[in-house]
Amino acid sequence: MTRNLVNIADFSKVEINEILNIASQLKNEVKHNVKHHHLENKTLIMLFEKPSARTRISFETGMCQLGGNAIFLGPNDLALGKRESIEDLARVLSRYNDIIMARVFDHDHIVKLAKFSTIPVINGLTNYNHPCQILSDGFTILEKFGKLENLKISFIGDGNNVFHSWLYMGQRFPLNINIACPKGYEPNKNLVKKTEEIGISTVKISNDPYEIISDSDIVYTDVWASMGQEKESMIRTNKFSPFQVNERLMKAAGSNSYFFHCLPAHRGKEVTDEIIDGEKSVVFDQAENRLHVQKAIMVFLMK
Ligand code: CP
Ligand code: NVA
Repeated sequence: MTRNLVNIADFSKVEINEILNIASQLKNEVKHNVKHHHLENKTLIMLFEKPSARTRISFETGMCQLGGNAIFLGPNDLALGKRESIEDLARVLSRYNDIIMARVFDHDHIVKLAKFSTIPVINGLTNYNHPCQILSDGFTILEKFGKLENLKISFIGDGNNVFHSWLYMGQRFPLNINIACPKGYEPNKNLVKKTEEIGISTVKISNDPYEIISDSDIVYTDVWASMGQEKESMIRTNKFSPFQVNERLMKAAGSNSYFFHCLPAHRGKEVTDEIIDGEKSVVFDQAENRLHVQKAIMVFLMK
């Protein structure tokens, strides 16, 4: 049966651990200049409705390192669901390519692509979630903490796509997941409820960063206005300014806290230069690990 990565809960805990193990081997191979062409002659088709640096470059580089090819279709090449139905496009791509990776606005579109494709579909971010980011962050956490459980994660900012993927991660690994956001910017209620019902992790939502921040292992933030929300940028800047991750907030988090950000960052807004450039920041490890983990995801899905 064809497997997809639409959200993290598409994989069991055992499977996620397997992917993270493959990522570790692949990272080691890159570091020692060992070349194994696990996906020789395979083709990845990449569909982008939104801009990207990390996702596009790491998938394309990753496929090249694995001995395959990647084809990029950007917003100007693609009018998903407009020129032809998503069902038909999924069927056509399945005849040419081996894997689809798509970054789209509407989450239902990736669900549809996955439903009608006969090759694996990987979600490269939707308005709802960003599974590749958080699986890669799981790998960075393993590197820093040696474990991916019983850690306190404090997400400061918007209850957005990146935070939603933390909730999915919490459906598989026991985590203490906290978010501080302005009123009206809370995460998806149904997803919070489902995560709480599964009962592996705890979830706490607050409108005050100082209420949740103490003794955090990880302080995580993301942009205040995501791609597609640019028009709301001014109003969001006003609402989110008390949620900036700065020295005062990191001090309240405790001296053991690492700083995480999926990037791109808006320096001086959600995070100050001192923090993102500080010694507890792991943002460039996070960015690098996208490459290793996404290669592992592709190898796993093509087994
Ligand atoms: N973090 C992330 O997905 O970056 P890009 O938007 O540059 O791909
Ligand atoms: N929440 C951000 C993440 C970018 C990687 C966005 O969707 O724009």
